Amino acid sequence: MAILITGGAGFIGSHTAVELLNAGKEIVIVDNLSNSKAEAVRRIAQITGKEPKFYQADLLDRPAMEQIFNENNIEAVVHFAGLKAVGESVYKPLEYYHNNITGTLVLCDVMRSHGCKKIVFSSSATVYGMNNPVPFKEGMPTSATNPYGYTKVMIEQILTDLHTADPEWSVVLLRYFNPIGAHKSGLLGEDPNGIPNNLLPYISQVAIGKLECLSIFGNDYETHDGTGVRDYIHVVDLALGHLKALSYAETHTGVEAVNLGTGVGYSVLDVVHSFEKACGKPINYHIAPRRAGDIAKNYADPAKARELFGWEAQLGLDEMCQDLWNFTVKNPQGL
Ligand code: NAD
Ligand code: UFG
Repeated sequence: MAILITGGAGFIGSHTAVELLNAGKEIVIVDNLSNSKAEAVRRIAQITGKEPKFYQADLLDRPAMEQIFNENNIEAVVHFAGLKAVGESVYKPLEYYHNNITGTLVLCDVMRSHGCKKIVFSSSATVYGMNNPVPFKEGMPTSATNPYGYTKVMIEQILTDLHTADPEWSVVLLRYFNPIGAHKSGLLGEDPNGIPNNLLPYISQVAIGKLECLSIFGNDYETHDGTGVRDYIHVVDLALGHLKALSYAETHTGVEAVNLGTGVGYSVLDVVHSFEKACGKPINYHIAPRRAGDIAKNYADPAKARELFGWEAQLGLDEMCQDLWNFTVKNPQGL
Protein backbone atom coordinates (compact mmCIF):
# COMPACT_ATOMS: atom_id res chain seq x y z
CA MET A 1 0.00 0.00 0.00
CA ALA A 2 1.38 3.40 -0.98
CA ILE A 3 0.74 7.05 -0.29
CA LEU A 4 0.39 9.22 -3.40
CA ILE A 5 1.96 12.66 -3.06
CA THR A 6 0.69 15.12 -5.66
CA GLY A 7 3.12 18.02 -6.08
CA GLY A 8 5.78 15.95 -4.34
CA ALA A 9 8.68 17.65 -6.15
CA GLY A 10 7.64 21.02 -4.71
CA PHE A 11 8.79 22.79 -1.56
CA ILE A 12 6.47 21.27 1.06
CA GLY A 13 5.78 18.03 -0.86
CA SER A 14 9.48 17.12 -1.12
CA HIS A 15 10.03 17.60 2.63
CA THR A 16 6.94 15.52 3.34
CA ALA A 17 8.19 12.79 0.98
CA VAL A 18 11.43 12.61 3.02
CA GLU A 19 9.57 12.26 6.31
CA LEU A 20 7.22 9.60 4.93
CA LEU A 21 10.14 7.57 3.56
CA ASN A 22 12.01 7.96 6.85
CA ALA A 23 8.92 6.62 8.61
CA GLY A 24 9.07 3.50 6.41
CA LYS A 25 6.11 4.37 4.17
CA GLU A 26 5.94 3.51 0.49
CA ILE A 27 5.33 6.61 -1.60
CA VAL A 28 4.50 7.54 -5.17
CA ILE A 29 5.06 11.10 -6.39
CA VAL A 30 3.18 12.80 -9.21
CA ASP A 31 4.27 16.25 -10.33
CA ASN A 32 4.18 18.06 -13.67
CA LEU A 33 7.31 20.05 -12.68
CA SER A 34 5.56 23.33 -13.57
CA ASN A 35 7.05 24.89 -10.43
CA SER A 36 9.77 22.42 -9.44
CA LYS A 37 12.60 20.32 -10.79
CA ALA A 38 13.28 16.58 -11.09
CA GLU A 39 16.44 17.29 -9.07
CA ALA A 40 14.21 17.53 -5.96
CA VAL A 41 13.21 13.89 -6.43
CA ARG A 42 16.88 12.87 -6.74
CA ARG A 43 17.62 14.78 -3.53
CA ILE A 44 14.79 13.01 -1.70
CA ALA A 45 16.51 9.75 -2.65
CA GLN A 46 19.92 11.10 -1.61
CA ILE A 47 18.66 12.09 1.86
CA THR A 48 16.67 8.95 2.59
CA GLY A 49 18.63 6.30 0.65
CA LYS A 50 15.29 5.25 -0.87
CA GLU A 51 14.17 5.86 -4.45
CA PRO A 52 10.59 7.14 -4.57
CA LYS A 53 8.48 6.13 -7.55
CA PHE A 54 8.04 9.30 -9.64
CA TYR A 55 5.58 10.12 -12.43
CA GLN A 56 6.06 13.37 -14.33
CA ALA A 57 2.38 13.93 -15.10
CA ASP A 58 -0.35 16.53 -14.81
CA LEU A 59 -3.39 16.10 -12.59
CA LEU A 60 -5.46 17.39 -15.49
CA ASP A 61 -4.35 14.37 -17.57
CA ARG A 62 -6.95 11.84 -16.54
CA PRO A 63 -5.49 8.84 -18.40
CA ALA A 64 -2.14 9.49 -16.72
CA MET A 65 -3.82 9.65 -13.31
CA GLU A 66 -5.73 6.43 -14.06
CA GLN A 67 -2.45 4.76 -14.97
CA ILE A 68 -0.85 5.79 -11.65
CA PHE A 69 -3.76 4.30 -9.71
CA ASN A 70 -3.76 1.15 -11.88
CA GLU A 71 -0.04 0.57 -11.40
CA ASN A 72 0.07 1.23 -7.66
CA ASN A 73 -2.00 0.24 -4.68
CA ILE A 74 -2.75 3.76 -3.40
CA GLU A 75 -4.32 3.84 0.07
CA ALA A 76 -4.28 7.62 0.65
CA VAL A 77 -3.36 10.85 -1.10
CA VAL A 78 -1.55 13.91 0.18
CA HIS A 79 -2.60 16.61 -2.26
CA PHE A 80 -0.09 19.48 -2.60
CA ALA A 81 -0.27 20.05 -6.37
CA GLY A 82 -1.50 23.51 -7.21
CA LEU A 83 -0.49 26.97 -8.35
CA LYS A 84 0.20 29.19 -5.37
CA ALA A 85 1.20 32.76 -6.25
CA VAL A 86 -1.46 35.11 -4.87
CA GLY A 87 -0.56 38.08 -7.12
CA GLU A 88 -0.31 35.99 -10.28
CA SER A 89 -3.72 34.46 -9.58
CA VAL A 90 -5.30 37.92 -9.90
CA TYR A 91 -4.26 38.30 -13.53
CA LYS A 92 -4.44 34.58 -14.44
CA PRO A 93 -7.72 33.54 -12.76
CA LEU A 94 -8.71 30.95 -15.37
CA GLU A 95 -5.33 29.21 -15.13
CA TYR A 96 -5.63 29.11 -11.33
CA TYR A 97 -9.22 27.85 -11.23
CA HIS A 98 -8.57 25.29 -13.96
CA ASN A 99 -5.33 23.94 -12.53
CA ASN A 100 -6.30 23.90 -8.87
CA ILE A 101 -10.01 23.07 -9.02
CA THR A 102 -10.20 20.88 -12.13
CA GLY A 103 -6.99 19.13 -11.06
CA THR A 104 -8.60 18.30 -7.71
CA LEU A 105 -11.83 17.13 -9.38
CA VAL A 106 -9.92 14.76 -11.69
CA LEU A 107 -7.86 13.47 -8.77
CA CYS A 108 -10.91 12.82 -6.56
CA ASP A 109 -12.83 11.18 -9.37
CA VAL A 110 -9.96 8.79 -10.09
CA MET A 111 -9.57 8.13 -6.35
CA ARG A 112 -13.28 7.33 -6.10
CA SER A 113 -13.20 4.94 -9.03
CA HIS A 114 -10.34 3.06 -7.33
CA GLY A 115 -12.00 2.99 -3.91
CA CYS A 116 -9.35 5.29 -2.40
CA LYS A 117 -11.16 7.61 0.02
CA LYS A 118 -8.50 9.21 2.21
CA ILE A 119 -7.15 12.63 1.34
CA VAL A 120 -5.01 15.17 3.17
CA PHE A 121 -5.28 18.53 1.41
CA SER A 122 -2.93 21.55 1.44
CA SER A 123 -5.21 24.40 2.39
CA SER A 124 -4.00 27.73 3.68
CA ALA A 125 -4.49 30.28 6.43
CA THR A 126 -5.58 32.54 3.60
CA VAL A 127 -9.11 31.03 4.00
CA TYR A 128 -9.50 33.07 7.22
CA GLY A 129 -9.77 36.16 5.00
CA MET A 130 -9.41 39.77 6.15
CA ASN A 131 -11.97 40.03 8.97
CA ASN A 132 -11.39 37.33 11.58
CA PRO A 133 -9.59 38.27 14.81
CA VAL A 134 -6.29 36.52 15.65
CA PRO A 135 -5.54 33.84 16.68
CA PHE A 136 -7.34 32.05 13.84
CA LYS A 137 -9.43 29.06 14.94
CA GLU A 138 -10.78 26.37 12.63
CA GLY A 139 -14.44 27.17 13.35
CA MET A 140 -14.19 30.75 12.07
CA PRO A 141 -15.95 31.70 8.81
CA THR A 142 -13.85 31.34 5.68
CA SER A 143 -13.57 33.75 2.77
CA ALA A 144 -11.13 34.92 0.14
CA THR A 145 -9.95 38.06 -1.59
CA ASN A 146 -8.19 36.65 -4.67
CA PRO A 147 -8.54 33.67 -7.06
CA TYR A 148 -5.81 31.67 -5.28
CA GLY A 149 -7.64 32.03 -1.96
CA TYR A 150 -10.95 31.15 -3.60
CA THR A 151 -9.47 27.91 -4.95
CA LYS A 152 -8.62 26.92 -1.36
CA VAL A 153 -12.08 27.87 -0.03
CA MET A 154 -13.77 26.03 -2.92
CA ILE A 155 -11.65 22.89 -2.66
CA GLU A 156 -12.38 22.74 1.08
CA GLN A 157 -16.09 22.85 0.15
CA ILE A 158 -15.75 20.25 -2.63
CA LEU A 159 -14.01 17.79 -0.29
CA THR A 160 -16.59 18.44 2.43
CA ASP A 161 -19.41 17.73 -0.06
CA LEU A 162 -17.66 14.56 -1.16
CA HIS A 163 -17.77 13.30 2.40
CA THR A 164 -21.44 14.31 2.77
CA ALA A 165 -22.27 12.23 -0.30
CA ASP A 166 -20.17 9.27 0.85
CA PRO A 167 -19.38 9.20 4.61
CA GLU A 168 -16.64 6.62 4.06
CA TRP A 169 -14.34 9.45 2.93
CA SER A 170 -11.71 10.72 5.29
CA VAL A 171 -10.76 14.32 4.56
CA VAL A 172 -8.18 16.39 6.42
CA LEU A 173 -7.92 20.05 5.40
CA LEU A 174 -4.56 21.31 6.63
CA ARG A 175 -4.46 25.09 6.89
CA TYR A 176 -0.80 26.05 6.69
CA PHE A 177 0.47 29.32 8.08
CA ASN A 178 3.81 30.58 6.65
CA PRO A 179 6.11 27.64 5.82
CA ILE A 180 9.80 28.59 5.67
CA GLY A 181 13.20 27.04 6.39
CA ALA A 182 14.76 24.10 4.61
CA HIS A 183 15.97 20.56 5.20
CA LYS A 184 18.87 20.32 7.69
CA SER A 185 21.04 18.62 5.07
CA GLY A 186 20.89 21.73 2.88
CA LEU A 187 19.77 19.48 0.01
CA LEU A 188 16.11 20.54 -0.12
CA GLY A 189 14.50 23.95 0.18
CA GLU A 190 12.34 26.50 -1.55
CA ASP A 191 13.47 27.29 -5.10
CA PRO A 192 11.19 30.00 -6.50
CA ASN A 193 11.24 31.00 -10.17
CA GLY A 194 12.27 34.61 -10.80
CA ILE A 195 12.05 37.33 -8.17
CA PRO A 196 10.46 35.89 -5.02
CA ASN A 197 7.15 37.26 -3.73
CA ASN A 198 7.51 35.83 -0.25
CA LEU A 199 9.54 37.35 2.54
CA LEU A 200 12.07 34.63 3.35
CA PRO A 201 13.24 33.74 -0.16
CA TYR A 202 13.57 37.48 -0.78
CA ILE A 203 15.67 38.06 2.34
CA SER A 204 17.94 35.11 1.54
CA GLN A 205 18.56 36.46 -1.97
CA VAL A 206 19.47 39.87 -0.53
CA ALA A 207 21.84 38.14 1.91
CA ILE A 208 23.58 36.16 -0.85
CA GLY A 209 23.88 39.28 -3.02
CA LYS A 210 21.43 38.36 -5.80
CA LEU A 211 19.01 41.14 -4.85
CA GLU A 212 19.92 44.63 -3.66
CA CYS A 213 17.47 45.56 -0.97
CA LEU A 214 14.39 44.20 0.81
CA SER A 215 11.26 46.38 0.64
CA ILE A 216 9.39 46.10 3.93
CA PHE A 217 5.74 46.59 3.03
CA GLY A 218 4.50 49.04 5.66
CA ASN A 219 5.67 49.97 9.16
CA ASP A 220 2.42 51.55 10.34
CA TYR A 221 0.43 48.39 11.20
CA GLU A 222 -0.94 47.88 14.70
CA THR A 223 1.80 45.47 15.70
CA HIS A 224 4.68 45.64 18.20
CA ASP A 225 7.01 47.39 15.71
CA GLY A 226 4.57 48.46 12.98
CA THR A 227 5.54 45.73 10.47
CA GLY A 228 3.29 42.80 9.51
CA VAL A 229 3.10 39.80 11.87
CA ARG A 230 2.93 36.19 10.59
CA ASP A 231 3.09 32.69 12.03
CA TYR A 232 6.24 31.24 10.42
CA ILE A 233 6.55 27.47 10.63
CA HIS A 234 9.56 25.29 9.79
CA VAL A 235 8.84 23.20 6.70
CA VAL A 236 10.07 20.04 8.47
CA ASP A 237 7.62 20.60 11.33
CA LEU A 238 4.94 21.08 8.70
CA ALA A 239 5.98 17.86 6.94
CA LEU A 240 5.73 15.95 10.23
CA GLY A 241 2.21 17.35 10.66
CA HIS A 242 1.26 15.50 7.46
CA LEU A 243 2.39 12.17 8.92
CA LYS A 244 0.13 12.78 11.89
CA ALA A 245 -2.76 13.81 9.64
CA LEU A 246 -2.34 10.61 7.59
CA SER A 247 -2.37 8.46 10.74
CA TYR A 248 -5.52 10.23 11.82
CA ALA A 249 -7.14 9.70 8.39
CA GLU A 250 -6.28 5.98 8.55
CA THR A 251 -8.45 5.52 11.61
CA HIS A 252 -11.20 8.13 11.22
CA THR A 253 -13.72 9.04 8.57
CA GLY A 254 -15.14 12.58 8.40
CA VAL A 255 -13.88 16.05 7.56
CA GLU A 256 -11.50 17.98 9.79
CA ALA A 257 -9.95 21.38 9.13
CA VAL A 258 -6.75 21.72 11.15
CA ASN A 259 -4.34 24.65 11.50
CA LEU A 260 -0.63 23.88 11.13
CA GLY A 261 1.11 26.84 12.71
CA THR A 262 3.17 27.55 15.82
CA GLY A 263 0.74 29.99 17.45
CA VAL A 264 3.54 32.56 17.66
CA GLY A 265 3.59 35.69 15.50
CA TYR A 266 6.81 37.38 14.36
CA SER A 267 7.06 40.74 12.58
CA VAL A 268 8.98 41.37 9.37
CA LEU A 269 11.68 43.15 11.42
CA ASP A 270 11.90 40.20 13.86
CA VAL A 271 12.53 37.95 10.86
CA VAL A 272 15.13 40.32 9.39
CA HIS A 273 17.03 40.37 12.71
CA SER A 274 16.89 36.60 13.10
CA PHE A 275 18.17 36.17 9.52
CA GLU A 276 21.00 38.65 10.18
CA LYS A 277 22.11 36.42 13.07
CA ALA A 278 21.96 33.34 10.85
CA CYS A 279 23.96 34.79 7.95
CA GLY A 280 26.26 36.98 10.05
CA LYS A 281 25.72 40.16 8.03
CA PRO A 282 23.24 43.04 7.91
CA ILE A 283 20.26 42.79 5.54
CA ASN A 284 19.82 45.89 3.41
CA TYR A 285 16.19 47.06 3.67
CA HIS A 286 13.97 50.10 3.26
CA ILE A 287 10.39 50.83 4.29
CA ALA A 288 7.96 50.78 1.34
CA PRO A 289 4.17 51.33 1.16
CA ARG A 290 1.82 48.60 2.37
CA ARG A 291 1.19 45.75 -0.11
CA ALA A 292 -2.44 45.50 -1.29
CA GLY A 293 -4.33 42.65 0.36
CA ASP A 294 -1.99 42.26 3.37
CA ILE A 295 -3.39 42.13 6.89
CA ALA A 296 -1.60 43.34 10.03
CA LYS A 297 -1.48 40.06 11.94
CA ASN A 298 -2.00 36.44 11.07
CA TYR A 299 -1.27 33.61 13.47
CA ALA A 300 -2.81 30.28 14.40
CA ASP A 301 -4.52 28.86 17.38
CA PRO A 302 -2.64 25.53 17.16
CA ALA A 303 -4.68 23.73 19.87
CA LYS A 304 -6.71 21.49 17.54
CA ALA A 305 -3.63 19.91 15.92
CA ARG A 306 -2.30 19.16 19.40
CA GLU A 307 -5.58 17.64 20.57
CA LEU A 308 -6.45 15.69 17.42
CA PHE A 309 -3.01 14.62 16.16
CA GLY A 310 -0.71 15.07 19.16
CA TRP A 311 1.34 17.36 16.88
CA GLU A 312 3.11 20.54 17.86
CA ALA A 313 5.74 22.59 16.04
CA GLN A 314 9.18 22.16 17.62
CA LEU A 315 11.52 24.48 15.72
CA GLY A 316 11.85 28.22 16.37
CA LEU A 317 12.47 31.20 14.10
CA ASP A 318 16.28 31.19 14.53
CA GLU A 319 16.48 27.57 13.39
CA MET A 320 14.20 28.30 10.42
CA CYS A 321 16.52 31.13 9.33
CA GLN A 322 19.71 29.07 9.93
CA ASP A 323 18.39 26.19 7.83
CA LEU A 324 17.30 28.48 5.01
CA TRP A 325 20.70 30.18 5.01
CA ASN A 326 22.47 26.80 4.94
CA PHE A 327 20.36 25.79 1.92
CA THR A 328 20.99 29.14 0.18
CA VAL A 329 24.77 28.94 0.64
CA LYS A 330 24.89 25.34 -0.59
CA ASN A 331 22.58 26.03 -3.58
CA PRO A 332 23.25 29.60 -4.73
CA GLN A 333 21.61 28.83 -8.11
CA GLY A 334 18.69 26.90 -6.56
CA LEU A 335 18.18 23.17 -7.07
P1 NAD B 1 5.27 24.34 -4.83
O1 NAD B 1 4.89 25.15 -6.02
O2 NAD B 1 6.70 24.26 -4.45
O3 NAD B 1 4.70 22.85 -4.99
C1 NAD B 1 3.53 22.55 -5.72
C2 NAD B 1 3.92 21.48 -6.75
O4 NAD B 1 2.75 21.12 -7.50
C3 NAD B 1 4.97 21.96 -7.75
O5 NAD B 1 6.05 21.06 -7.76
C4 NAD B 1 4.24 21.97 -9.09
O6 NAD B 1 5.10 21.63 -10.16
C5 NAD B 1 3.15 20.94 -8.86
N1 NAD B 1 1.92 21.13 -9.66
C6 NAD B 1 1.17 22.24 -9.80
N2 NAD B 1 0.11 22.00 -10.58
C7 NAD B 1 0.16 20.69 -10.93
C8 NAD B 1 -0.65 19.84 -11.73
N3 NAD B 1 -1.74 20.29 -12.34
N4 NAD B 1 -0.29 18.55 -11.88
C9 NAD B 1 0.83 18.06 -11.28
N5 NAD B 1 1.64 18.83 -10.52
C10 NAD B 1 1.31 20.12 -10.34
O7 NAD B 1 4.40 24.89 -3.60
P2 NAD B 1 4.49 24.56 -2.05
O8 NAD B 1 4.94 25.78 -1.35
O9 NAD B 1 5.19 23.28 -1.82
O10 NAD B 1 2.93 24.40 -1.73
C11 NAD B 1 2.28 23.15 -1.76
C12 NAD B 1 0.80 23.34 -1.49
O11 NAD B 1 0.63 24.03 -0.26
C13 NAD B 1 0.09 24.21 -2.54
O12 NAD B 1 -1.20 23.67 -2.77
C14 NAD B 1 -0.01 25.56 -1.88
O13 NAD B 1 -1.11 26.30 -2.35
C15 NAD B 1 -0.18 25.17 -0.43
N6 NAD B 1 0.25 26.23 0.51
C16 NAD B 1 1.52 26.74 0.41
C17 NAD B 1 1.91 27.77 1.25
C18 NAD B 1 3.29 28.38 1.15
O14 NAD B 1 3.48 29.49 1.65
N7 NAD B 1 4.27 27.71 0.55
C19 NAD B 1 1.02 28.27 2.21
C20 NAD B 1 -0.25 27.72 2.30
C21 NAD B 1 -0.62 26.69 1.44
N1 UFG C 1 6.84 41.19 3.09
C1 UFG C 1 7.66 42.29 2.95
N2 UFG C 1 8.47 42.35 1.87
C2 UFG C 1 8.54 41.38 0.91
C3 UFG C 1 7.69 40.25 1.07
C4 UFG C 1 6.85 40.19 2.16
O1 UFG C 1 7.64 43.19 3.79
O2 UFG C 1 9.29 41.51 -0.06
C5 UFG C 1 5.98 41.07 4.29
C6 UFG C 1 4.49 41.02 3.96
O3 UFG C 1 3.95 42.30 3.85
C7 UFG C 1 3.95 40.22 5.15
C8 UFG C 1 5.11 39.26 5.50
O4 UFG C 1 6.28 39.85 4.92
O5 UFG C 1 3.75 41.06 6.25
C9 UFG C 1 4.93 37.87 4.93
O6 UFG C 1 4.68 37.95 3.53
P1 UFG C 1 4.76 36.66 2.58
O7 UFG C 1 4.51 37.16 1.19
O8 UFG C 1 6.00 35.90 2.82
O9 UFG C 1 3.56 35.75 3.09
P2 UFG C 1 2.00 36.07 3.24
O10 UFG C 1 1.69 36.01 4.70
O11 UFG C 1 1.61 37.27 2.52
O12 UFG C 1 1.35 34.85 2.43
C10 UFG C 1 1.59 33.48 2.78
C11 UFG C 1 1.60 32.62 1.52
C12 UFG C 1 0.24 32.61 0.88
C13 UFG C 1 -0.81 32.22 1.86
C14 UFG C 1 -0.73 33.09 3.08
C15 UFG C 1 -1.70 32.52 4.09
O13 UFG C 1 2.54 33.10 0.59
O14 UFG C 1 0.23 31.63 -0.14
O15 UFG C 1 0.60 33.06 3.63
O16 UFG C 1 -1.49 32.91 5.33
F1 UFG C 1 -2.03 32.37 1.29
